[in-house]
Amino acid sequence: MLYNLDLVKQSFKLKTLIKSIFSNNLLHSNGNNLLTSVIIDSSHKINKNKVENYFKDFYSLQGWFSIFSAKTLLWLDFIQKQEKIEGNLFEIGVYLGKSSILFGLFADQEKERLGLCDHFKAGERRKIPQKEILYKNLNSYFDNLEFIDIYDKESIALTLDECKNSRMFHIDGGHTFVQLTNDLQLAETAIIDKGLIIIDDFFNPRCPEVTEGVYKYLDKGTLTPIMVGFMKLVLCKKSMYKWYFEKINTLGWKNYINNEKIDFLNRKMFGYNILTGGQQAN
Ligand SMILES: C[S@@+](CC[C@H](N)C(=O)[O-])C[C@H]1O[C@@H](n2cnc3c(N)ncnc32)[C@H](O)[C@@H]1O
Repeated sequence: MLYNLDLVKQSFKLKTLIKSIFSNNLLHSNGNNLLTSVIIDSSHKINKNKVENYFKDFYSLQGWFSIFSAKTLLWLDFIQKQEKIEGNLFEIGVYLGKSSILFGLFADQEKERLGLCDHFKAGERRKIPQKEILYKNLNSYFDNLEFIDIYDKESIALTLDECKNSRMFHIDGGHTFVQLTNDLQLAETAIIDKGLIIIDDFFNPRCPEVTEGVYKYLDKGTLTPIMVGFMKLVLCKKSMYKWYFEKINTLGWKNYINNEKIDFLNRKMFGYNILTGGQQAN
């Protein structure tokens, strides 16, 4: 009797699993075509084929990076390139390279470098060869990795020399108050005048110390927000606030965020006008 009941339970579990895989796939493939198509301005200096392939592959790459964050960053890369801003790209918190690949695609390999820092402990915890998968993923997008520097260490051990002259600095490593504050301090010194700092998991209720750390740090008054959305906060130097705010309002997001349910609104944060990206109410 017990044996039969177990069998019934198992077959029920199996059916539920098959159902969920099937419906997820359907959902995925339906929604995917819309989400993974990407519009790139014709004057954007970037390898368009590779970027299109990256977005096509988006859901097969494992990681913590949403497609709308990726499209927002692509738009910011467009703005920087339109304005002839040159500099390195740097990321703390790489995991398997989902966001790193996009930063790599932004880089003009002739003159810009991509720095990646991770202590690779996430892979240990998940029992996967994190570093090996990262290299495999990077190698599938780039013919050679000479423009990339990988720092296998805690971000607190990074030196300014390793990440200086950055035009985009992505913070997605340790999510505690202390780690966030340390990474943000480093990023502020590492960015060029027109550099941008992008902080992951801002306003994410699962990572309250990130939001807390940012709020405390912004009290210094040297950095200002210009955009928030899709759990990313974008900061620039206070001296560049007006300049960036004008650019993000004139070099339109509509060319990059091609989804009718998504838009950017004008809102205020810490007394600054900013853009907020998100899903429209129904
Ligand atoms: C949320 S994941 C990064 C996700 C990644 N950006 C993506 O696109 O999928 C966070 C990563 O940060 C790394 N990490 C956490 N704390 C760190 C620290 N203090 N220094 C360096 N890396 C750290 C982890 O090993 C993990 O790979």
